[in-house]
Amino acid sequence: MRPGDYRCFIGQAENCGSGTRLATLGRAFTIARPKLARVMRKSLIAANWKCHGSLLMVDDFANALTHHTMADVVVFPPAVFVERFANQALNTVDCGVQDIGVAESGAYTGEVAGEMAREAGAKWVIIGHSERRNDQQESDELIAQKLLAATRAELRPILCVGETQSQREAGDALAVVEQQLLSAVAKLDVSQISIGAVAYEPVWAIGTGLTATPQQAQDMHKGIRELLRQIDERTADETRIIYGGSVKADNAASLFSQPDIDGALVGGASLQLDTFMGIIAAA
Ligand code: 13P
Repeated sequence: MRPGDYRCFIGQAENCGSGTRLATLGRAFTIARPKLARVMRKSLIAANWKCHGSLLMVDDFANALTHHTMADVVVFPPAVFVERFANQALNTVDCGVQDIGVAESGAYTGEVAGEMAREAGAKWVIIGHSERRNDQQESDELIAQKLLAATRAELRPILCVGETQSQREAGDALAVVEQQLLSAVAKLDVSQISIGAVAYEPVWAIGTGLTATPQQAQDMHKGIRELLRQIDERTADETRIIYGGSVKADNAASLFSQPDIDGALVGGASLQLDTFMGIIAAA
């Protein structure tokens, strides 16, 4: 059996205490996954508001993002505004949370569980943003657990990876990003990452006005896709790899013209409707 084939059983579900498992009644058989000729990936443009915003801003964005565009559009406001956004928005824009806790519930003061976020209307979640890796000391192990929690809660994860300036200068950028990606998906069937996206966000480009050049970003995105291809070809073709780091309306088009850049995760420029809409228009 090759990765991606479907394993089928003639059987019935039975409860086994901790969950449900399939009781095999007959022979197992395998359906080969069909080969795809060429995969078209729809662009994904995401607004990470970080700790910015207000109810007024939620209303403005939800009421303005009402047209279907060439891209999937997702807004990540602070968690307390998600329900309001989800209730106001049409099906032209999704919303998500910027983080989730690992546990489904429990004595974890301040945490928001994935299921709770989903109940409030979130469809997406950002996992492993560099600000959480650095400011909250989130480890690769914790990020892997959060990615698993996201899929358990049926949220689409955007997994963030990216190197620091000194790591790039040392020539370690690709190795750092590969290690972050491999450790994050270690607890998953890797194909689940294609339900969401990978965001390449070089730390040195976040909030600094220093954007990676389209070629620098393309080289890294290609490296990420090649790494995914070593694990599963279809996942590599289907997964959207988006870029984040000082994306603006005037540099978006040149980034999006690269073959492996499938959209953007936008910070500062997503706080103004007109600039964010300019980035969507470039997709
Ligand atoms: P900026 O667009 O402000 O550089 O932020 C990028 C980012 O961190 C998005 O998650």
